[in-house]
Amino acid sequence: MNVLLIGSGGREHALAFALERSPKLDRLFIAPGNGGMAALGTCVDLDIADHAAVVGFCRENAIGLVVVGPEAPLVAGIADALAAAAIPVFGPSAAAARLEGSKGFTKDLCAEYGIPTAAYARFTDAAAARAYIEAQGAPIVVKADGLAAGKGVVVAETVGEAIAAVEACFAGEFSEAGAEVVVEECLVGEEASFFAICDGSNAVPLATAQDHKRVGDGDTGPNTGGMGAYSPAPVMTPALVEQTMKEIIEPTMRAMRDKGCPFTGVLYAGLMITEKGPELIEYNARFGDPEAQVLMLRLKSDLLDLLFAAATGGLAGKTLDWRDETALTVVMAAKGYPGTYMKGSEIRGLDKAGAPEGVEVFHAGTKRDGDKVLAVGGRVLNVTALGRTVGEAQARAYEAVDAIDWPEGFARRDIGWRAVARERNG
Ligand code: AMP
Ligand code: GLY
Repeated sequence: MNVLLIGSGGREHALAFALERSPKLDRLFIAPGNGGMAALGTCVDLDIADHAAVVGFCRENAIGLVVVGPEAPLVAGIADALAAAAIPVFGPSAAAARLEGSKGFTKDLCAEYGIPTAAYARFTDAAAARAYIEAQGAPIVVKADGLAAGKGVVVAETVGEAIAAVEACFAGEFSEAGAEVVVEECLVGEEASFFAICDGSNAVPLATAQDHKRVGDGDTGPNTGGMGAYSPAPVMTPALVEQTMKEIIEPTMRAMRDKGCPFTGVLYAGLMITEKGPELIEYNARFGDPEAQVLMLRLKSDLLDLLFAAATGGLAGKTLDWRDETALTVVMAAKGYPGTYMKGSEIRGLDKAGAPEGVEVFHAGTKRDGDKVLAVGGRVLNVTALGRTVGEAQARAYEAVDAIDWPEGFARRDIGWRAVARERNG
């Protein structure tokens, strides 16, 4: 089968790495891809926003499955255009992608179906939001309703900070995405990323993972897209996985079917494991980045087979095999990220870093310039390693990070700290 993979991040490099191992794969096309993916498939310059052009490309190249990595094309309806052309696509329709694209939609759905999540209220004007915040008190969380590249959330420690966040939203900081604001209760606990592959009716859980959202060691500094991850996440015990499927994922699948927009693709639940159990922080309609990198290193089952089954309603009864080892990934980012950063610096030592068995350096914001690899994004590399313990995976990943010669980059030095501490404490 020929496959078209859409995206250019480390997540897509990891998906390409797993798809390429499938005996069912004939040709892999990647649009647009990045500096690390050329060895795995053919990178094509295709305007993803031009749905007719994407459909045309699929017809010309006998594409049997389109895999959509990022959320923006999904929210823009690329899966609807492909489905209308009878091209199998892994990824939700625009209506189903509202689970990620509108926080208000998701909160209302949770309320209607009794899905555990933070108490909330929706606002379209600042005065009402301010009154609610003053009545509730701090800490409290303020969110822009729409897609804001992970930057639309403020966990406010004071009422003043929360009101400032509301005002910034309505003043247009996130343009259209901030025209509506969700204010919600601050949940306390440990976070985990939970993924289920869905075919509209059935959902199959993937292995567990944990992300590190803050830019600095010890979980300090501003939020980012994710600075590192590992899998499995010991916080997600088998009992919690079962509870999450029953109380969160399965009712969501039912709700989406009831609303006439069944969910196909990967449902990514950001969870807070509170004293009461898992509660939904938010949904994404795509794989996590960098969580996909650790999941793909551990997945033993055929990814192409799995995603095609999801795209064509054939998931019932599927189970997945995983390597027992821990996978851990460290994000190397350009100095200045998540603020402003320089582009165009050269990265050396990649071959040496990725040489050991069980180590993969996935590329995110890179491009090739002749023999050189240049950094052209904020998050640039995902240095990923397997180990028998979290401690071993961590040591191997940092050995590879240290083999990379890129003075303009940086990484957190403590990815996996919670799980390493659990290991030490037995
Ligand atoms: P989101 O973009 O909704 O995932 O939010 C980004 C981050 O903000 C999450 O990963 C949490 O760390 C934090 N956050 C969001 N909502 C809440 C909440 N209700 N309580 C506590 N922390 C939250
Ligand atoms: N790692 C967080 C995300 O993909 O949104």
